[in-house]
Amino acid sequence: MTRRKFLAGNWKMYKTVAEARQFAEQLSRRSTDLSVDADYAVCPPFTALQALRVILPSGVLLGAQNVHPGGNGAYTGEVSVDMLAELGVHYVVVGHSERRQLFGEGDEFIAQKVEAVLQAGLIPILCVGENLNQREHGQTLQVVANQTQTALAGIASTALRALVIAYEPVWAIGSGLTPTPAEAQQVIAHIRSVVGENKGAAVASSVQILYGGSVKPGNIAGFTNQPDIDGALVGGASLAADSFADMALAMNGR
Ligand code: PGA
Repeated sequence: MTRRKFLAGNWKMYKTVAEARQFAEQLSRRSTDLSVDADYAVCPPFTALQALRVILPSGVLLGAQNVHPGGNGAYTGEVSVDMLAELGVHYVVVGHSERRQLFGEGDEFIAQKVEAVLQAGLIPILCVGENLNQREHGQTLQVVANQTQTALAGIASTALRALVIAYEPVWAIGSGLTPTPAEAQQVIAHIRSVVGENKGAAVASSVQILYGGSVKPGNIAGFTNQPDIDGALVGGASLAADSFADMALAMNGR
C-alpha cells in the first residue's frame, strides 16, 4: 500500500503562546508549500495547544508531546487524553527518549500511554531508538525491536490501524549527527517487520514510520526517499516556519 508522508515538528520546551502564534502566521504564508498529499503536525508545549488550534494552516494537525495514561485522578502536574482530545489534538508523542532518560519513563508506562491514546481515538507517535553505547555494541536492531514489542504488546491489531512510530537514535537527537539514510532505512525496515510479526501484515504495511534526529531541510529528502521511511519527526529545525515549509517541500520532492 502507499503510505502518506508525514512531517511532524516536536517543539520540546520551546515557544510561548505569542511565539507559537507567530509561527502559525508565518507558516500560513507558506501554506501553498504544504502539499495536500502529505500529513503535517506540530507538537507544541501544552500551553500553546489551545491558541494554535484555530490558527494553524489547514492540513497541519496538532500533536501533544506527552500524556498521562490515567483518566481523571490525583496526578498532580499531569494531563489526560480526554483533556488533549477536547483541545483538538490528533497525535501524542509517546516514549520520546527525553522522557525515557530525563523523566525515568519505562517501557510499561509507555505501553499504558499508547493504549490510553488509542482508546481515546488519538494517534500515538511512538518513539524508539538506541543510545550510543547500544549502537556501538551492535544492539540497535534488538533494542528497537524490544521497545516496539513492549509498547504494542497489549494492543489488538484492529486498534492499530492508526499508529505512527518514530525511529530516533538517541545519539542523533540534537547532536547534528545522523545515521546514513541507508542505515536508517535498515532499522526502520526491521521495525516494520517486527510490527508485522507481532500485529500482522496489514498493520505493518499501513503504519507510518518516521526517522528523527538532526533532520533539517538539507538532509530530510535523503531519509524520506527511502522505501520504508514515511517522514520525519523534527525538533530544532521545526521551530522556524520557513524551515518547516522547506522540509515539507524537500520531503515531497518539490
Ligand atoms: P532534533 O530532535 O531534530 O532537534 O534532533 C528530534 C526529536 O527529539 O524529536
